[in-house]
Amino acid sequence: MTSELITGIGELTTQDDDHARLTDAAVVLEAGRIAWIGPASRAPAADRRTDVAGRAVLPGWVDTHTHVVFAGDRSAEFEARMAGQRYAAGGIHATVRATRAATDAELTATASTLRREAQAQGTTFLEAKTGYGLDLETETRSARVAAEVADVVTFLGAHVVPPDADRRDYLDLVTGPMLTAVRPYVDFVDAFCERGAFDVDESREVLLAGRAAGLGLRLHGNQLGFGGAVALAVELGCASVDHCNYLTPADVEALASSSTVATLLPACDLSTREPFAPARALLDAGASIALATNCNPGTSYTTSMPFCVATAVLQMGLTVAEAVWAATRGAARAVGREHGPDAVGSLRVGGRADLQVLAAPSVAHLAYRPGVALTAAVWRQGIRVSG
Ligand code: NIG
Repeated sequence: MTSELITGIGELTTQDDDHARLTDAAVVLEAGRIAWIGPASRAPAADRRTDVAGRAVLPGWVDTHTHVVFAGDRSAEFEARMAGQRYAAGGIHATVRATRAATDAELTATASTLRREAQAQGTTFLEAKTGYGLDLETETRSARVAAEVADVVTFLGAHVVPPDADRRDYLDLVTGPMLTAVRPYVDFVDAFCERGAFDVDESREVLLAGRAAGLGLRLHGNQLGFGGAVALAVELGCASVDHCNYLTPADVEALASSSTVATLLPACDLSTREPFAPARALLDAGASIALATNCNPGTSYTTSMPFCVATAVLQMGLTVAEAVWAATRGAARAVGREHGPDAVGSLRVGGRADLQVLAAPSVAHLAYRPGVALTAAVWRQGIRVSG
């Protein structure tokens, strides 16, 4: 079993319980796990040695909100939006048409390319959703592709009601045969709880059916206006409620007194020109937040977690440490992977060796040098996968 010593670390962000940022640190990787962390002067011998010459090392990004299983292009819709049209979710149907027409191989190729693109920017754990099939066959194919490409899969049959379907019949399909068909491939169930998609009662029905099938719960909510999604997510104990652009003080309070993580999607906020989610208010109230890309062809066509971290710092009032936490340990919390043998988003002895080296001496450079490609190298489960 080959071990690797990573030494010469200028700044090591572990995101372990003591919030340590170590200087002159070293890390030993063995069998896909972290075998040792400590001062470089006391590092044990290893089979291989990599000197990162004073650069910053931190956990790989945990991207918990993507829709990378899709086909087609919506750049014209994006351009129209930048010319003043408001996002209203209608474009989802264009992606559904293209996705239904695509082969499994085409869907896998696109999703894998996006996964590789994300990995090259430091993402070592990726969630992917279904939701552009919206019929039994294509949702099942999407779930299978997502399970091949991603670390965790979310069933989003309740994205919107397809135009050719009766609303009640479609809900019966999603909570019945479709759920049964995707079940072998998925870990979470989700619904788009928003005007123009599903209301609170419909979303509750979908989530409860998913829970009865043994799935974890997450919810898209309060993206385009105020509404009851956050309250529903808290009521049902969802692992995460995602978007959260329009929050009342009661929503913030409810999140703060719950275990539900608010997953914020800054690239989507920019690309839809919606107000940024109130990240500062959430943190000040004591809520947990995560940051994710929401990579999808409609509202956020980026795989870049560094871009999201920089935006969260520069535009949403987070400190660098808060944003990096939200994109690693906070994100792990949002998918129930903060603790235990499969934990991600932190560097601790015995934990997964998912880490990245920045071409910079500190994580501050992620926001200090926005837009600059700073990912120098990435290890996933102890294997160097980039750089
Ligand atoms: O998370 N909000 C709903 N779903 C996606 C976007 C879907 C689309 O427009 O294709 C999102 O933003």
